[in-house]
Amino acid sequence: MVEYVDICVGLAWGDEGKGKIVSHLTKNYDYVCRWNGGDNAGHTIYVDNKKYSTHLVPSGVFHGIKSIIGPGCVVNIKSFLNEINYLKDNGFNTNLIKISSKAHIVSDEHIYEDKEKYKNKIGTTARGIGPCYTDKYARKGKTVNDFKDELKEYIWDEVLEGKILCEGAQGFWLDIDHGNYPYVTSSNTLPYSACSLGFPHQKIRKIYGAVKIYDTRVGIDPEFSDELDNNEELMKIAETGKEYGTTTGRLRKVNYLNINKLIKALYYSGTTDLIISKIDILESINVFKYIYNDEICSFNSSELMIESIIKLINDNNNYVSNILLSRSPKEI
Ligand code: IMP
Ligand code: MG
Repeated sequence: MVEYVDICVGLAWGDEGKGKIVSHLTKNYDYVCRWNGGDNAGHTIYVDNKKYSTHLVPSGVFHGIKSIIGPGCVVNIKSFLNEINYLKDNGFNTNLIKISSKAHIVSDEHIYEDKEKYKNKIGTTARGIGPCYTDKYARKGKTVNDFKDELKEYIWDEVLEGKILCEGAQGFWLDIDHGNYPYVTSSNTLPYSACSLGFPHQKIRKIYGAVKIYDTRVGIDPEFSDELDNNEELMKIAETGKEYGTTTGRLRKVNYLNINKLIKALYYSGTTDLIISKIDILESINVFKYIYNDEICSFNSSELMIESIIKLINDNNNYVSNILLSRSPKEI
């Protein structure tokens, strides 16, 4: 039986530092699971001060915890096996990594179609994610079960037990139902969707919501206009915060944190524990601004800015019971 489930989700457009949070929490759980997406995600993890990146494998493996890729995920076999080799080469126990037999397979055709039709039009990561989910929902996709021989050591059909940590990929505003469609990913990024791993929602205990002190966006999105790139202050944040995509290496667009959007993401996700990171980036360039009701609000210090953010959250939300501020993602 599952004892309880905690879930870590992104409250923005991905790249909120979920990997670091999950990696910090992992040791308290029996399983770490992914429920959505594929190798479009990019998780950066620090173990003993060494930096690792994964795209598909949940970060439990870095701490000796069983890591499950769930039935709602899509798997590119080649990049999965590359990741396995990368982890093996770095001394991690890859026997802990398992994939649901029901997860769908991303084919070369899916990747080709994504590159040809969607990469330039909606700014996808060109990993074949959308076309793979298209085939899944048209009920003509191929699952891990159809590729048994290639993946046999990794196939998993058991039930989850004990304490579970679920690791979200992407973020609230990339959710297929809630984001700026069609500039979204093709899966559900909200925590309710983690139940597809095989537990009832009553088992959910905590929802860790991750957000940065400023917004970033990789890929195309009319809500992040090209004008943002001409704003020196925002460009400085991008450079200081090293805002390059882990998966594609693309420079992310930056804007001040939109508080109205954050409040909505907190409510819809049911976040109980909020982690606001990268506060040190604003401190190092001495810019303390957020957007509220379409206006830019400016503060003299990070303390005043954060105090105001916390007040707005508390005035608008009854579910967040802990707020953790992180000056450097590594310190979480
Ligand atoms: P896709 O998931 O590759 O189809 O891309 C759809 C949109 O989601 C694009 O705007 C991507 O840039 C964005 N996206 C997908 N995965 C991530 C991620 O892990 N971090 C940030 N953006 C992502
Ligand atoms: Mg990421």
